[in-house]
Amino acid sequence: MPQINLDYLKDFVSEAEIFSKKKAAENALSALVDKTGAGAEFTGFVSLPKDYDRGELLRIKRAAEKIRRQSDVLIVIGIGGSYLGARAVIELLQSPMRNSLPHEGPEIYFAGCSLSPDYMYDIARLCEGKEISVNVISKSGTTTEPAVAFRFFREMLEKRYGKEGARKRIFCTTDKEKGTLKALADREGYETFVVPDNIGGRFSVLTPVGLLPIAAAGIDPEELLSGAAEGMREYLSPKFEQNAAMRYAAARNILYEKGKTLELLVSYDPDFLQMAEWWKQLFGESEGKNHRGIFPCSATFSTDLHSLGQFVQDGSRTMFETVVRFKQAKHSFAVTEDRENADGLNFLAGMDMGEINEKARLGTLIAHTEGGVPNIIITSEAKTPNETGKLIYFFEIAVAISGYMLGVNPFDQPGVESYKKNMFALLGKPGFEDIKKALEAKI
Ligand code: PA5
Repeated sequence: MPQINLDYLKDFVSEAEIFSKKKAAENALSALVDKTGAGAEFTGFVSLPKDYDRGELLRIKRAAEKIRRQSDVLIVIGIGGSYLGARAVIELLQSPMRNSLPHEGPEIYFAGCSLSPDYMYDIARLCEGKEISVNVISKSGTTTEPAVAFRFFREMLEKRYGKEGARKRIFCTTDKEKGTLKALADREGYETFVVPDNIGGRFSVLTPVGLLPIAAAGIDPEELLSGAAEGMREYLSPKFEQNAAMRYAAARNILYEKGKTLELLVSYDPDFLQMAEWWKQLFGESEGKNHRGIFPCSATFSTDLHSLGQFVQDGSRTMFETVVRFKQAKHSFAVTEDRENADGLNFLAGMDMGEINEKARLGTLIAHTEGGVPNIIITSEAKTPNETGKLIYFFEIAVAISGYMLGVNPFDQPGVESYKKNMFALLGKPGFEDIKKALEAKI
């Protein structure tokens, strides 16, 4: 179970200050659980691990099996909450390099998560001469980035396999009844999976949105869900002192009040990088509104200690760090002895790199806290599906509590629409002529 350690806040935030947030955190949790807070209609993720539709789970497993049988490559098309969670879990539990290593299931590539022609070109090239399946994920069905990518891959599949063959290889995850993707899937006879109405994109990794690609990668979705269900017992507990999600939310809230407006999520493993991307969307989109909120950013140490380390140690004092550490790495790897010992590192010979990584973490922790950067430490037992399910659930509950404590609706994202409106106007979408004129005067 992920544990939280707030001891390294003590030079900045006292235990009494954290305790002063007890009532506010408990009220926020009650509002979430009782569905009396803002955006309550999107809080289906809270009970999802125990309410999960077993029939749907079985269908996910069958579709994943089919994808694995018939494909060398699975293209997952989606943006934001429609792809970040799946990518995060696959890279954490397997490897960011899984496609180049011996792996279970097809190679998995993510498309429709940018508008870059160069990225699309490269993905298209990766598909040459390979058997392909596509999982397109879009709740609205109208998001430009995935819609553009899906046009391309649908055409590729129809050319290669014919309409009938393509039908067996296209899997749509979308709204249960509304939207263009749903209409298209029904018309063409694609197998569909439902994005639940009561769960927003960034909270949807444990729905078919995340679970189908995750299962296709060979990770058991049931283990993720059972981990999240165990998380329900811990993070929905009304006891502030024992609830790590409430304590994390309370600590963030105080740090924000003390002028810490930037949270650096740190891990010591590159396989966590995409989890940090998922976390950034979860916290950024949930809290950054009404000109309020902590800016979420991330770093991988020790890598980034050689680039960002100077700033963290010595730059403007506006940040705190939240370090996610895993008690156990997936593998061990010993340092070799060098006959000449030219680098003077033979004292490390035979030592596991995980042990060295841990000492780097401890050394950095002391250096950064002494440099004026408060640290929160979240410890997860291991990189297993069960523990990852808990970690995901922990962050989801924590951000909901934290958002309510901040006084915002953590479940909407009105700000995301502004760029879309301008982009459509500049692209000449019918109906946007006036906005286009106004924009052109400014460019
Ligand atoms: O969290 C969110 O709601 C967003 O990130 C969406 O997931 C993202 O914009 C994609 O939307 P859609 O699934 O409708 O294509």
